[in-house]
Amino acid sequence: MDTIQVNLPAGSYNIYIGTGNLDKLGEYLPFEKKRRLFVITNDLLGPLYGNSLVESLQQYGYKVLYQQVPDGEEYKSFATAEELFTSAIKGGIDRGSGVIALGGGVIGDLAGFVAATYMRGIPLIQVPTTLLAQVDSSVGGKVAINHPLGKNMIGAFYQPRLVFIDLLVLKTLDPREIRSGLAEVIKYGVIQDKGFFAFLEEHLEGIKALDLDLLSAIVKKSCSIKGGIVEKDEKERGLRALLNFGHTIGHALEVITDYRVYRHGEAVSLGMVAAAEIAVSRGLLTREEADRLVRLLDNAGLPTVIPFGADQLIPLLSRDKKAQLGRPRFVLPLGLGKAEVFDDVGEGEIREAIEKCCKKGKS
Ligand code: NAD
Ligand code: GLY
Repeated sequence: MDTIQVNLPAGSYNIYIGTGNLDKLGEYLPFEKKRRLFVITNDLLGPLYGNSLVESLQQYGYKVLYQQVPDGEEYKSFATAEELFTSAIKGGIDRGSGVIALGGGVIGDLAGFVAATYMRGIPLIQVPTTLLAQVDSSVGGKVAINHPLGKNMIGAFYQPRLVFIDLLVLKTLDPREIRSGLAEVIKYGVIQDKGFFAFLEEHLEGIKALDLDLLSAIVKKSCSIKGGIVEKDEKERGLRALLNFGHTIGHALEVITDYRVYRHGEAVSLGMVAAAEIAVSRGLLTREEADRLVRLLDNAGLPTVIPFGADQLIPLLSRDKKAQLGRPRFVLPLGLGKAEVFDDVGEGEIREAIEKCCKKGKS
């Protein structure tokens, strides 16, 4: 198994990446064997992986409290968290226990929130099962639930004790979810690593076919880029904001469609195309580089044409969590492999970029 370490002042943790390793998790847990673990998953993943994971943990000698919540973003809620707290109290989960989040970003964020707040915080183990969760949400400690008035509004920075990745589980994932995760992978290439961007261009077909060596390479690289950024800026005071490349307009698209049309990565794909247009008009990115990005996203099967006008999207930008004093914040690429945060992008520039991205067959 490959290991990537994330080193933070409050403690380091390992990200283990392997293939077919799920039933070995018990070997890597930092708990005494008599401890009770709280495994949280959803009702789709339970029959696929949850039941066998519980059996394997029991074989390692752990006592396990197991709960499946319904599948879906709408269950990343206060109500579900409350049910989980109740189960934890009734099931004897204490400060020596650990929460194991088995699932995609929804379960990771929800179970992470429960771990962060139950008894003022008990250890969290992330076992991500979507590509998006393996390359992004399980690493870095953002945990949250949604509020009826806004997504991810209630949460914390709460780092996991370890992240345990089994690439084989991606074989049962819907191809659309693979594509959504790929948007975040492509994002890492643009903001930090030109060579990685070229690697993705070269190997895209194999990645889409879920070649395990290629998946291993892209998950390792993504985790190491994200881990490196989190090490330097855990609480998003500066550098970590680069991870929001594509997220300003991406988030507006999610809001305008009530989170029902786009998977997160699809919205981010469109946001990256728009941000690249702004960067081209500022002379930060060449047209050829922007075209390479659009081509890679297209080939990955991600959307690159925005079906909403500037008048619809612009009013939403100032309400974004990332906005500063009502001014939207953009991450713009400076060529491929480098990016910076800009707080001075004017409405005219945004309008022009969105209009260009609305048209099919852009230059
Ligand atoms: P998800 O968790 O909803 O998973 C997508 C679908 O795939 C679900 O139906 C799930 O049950 C299913 N699934 C998961 N693993 C599977 C597998 N191996 N085989 C078959 N089906 C599987 O979606 P997601 O895209 O992983 O996560 C989105 C969530 O992540 C959002 O709530 C978002 O806010 C959050 N997020 C958090 C961070 C962070 O840093 N904490 C970053 C990005 C996104
Ligand atoms: N997904 C963005 C971050 O973790 O900061």
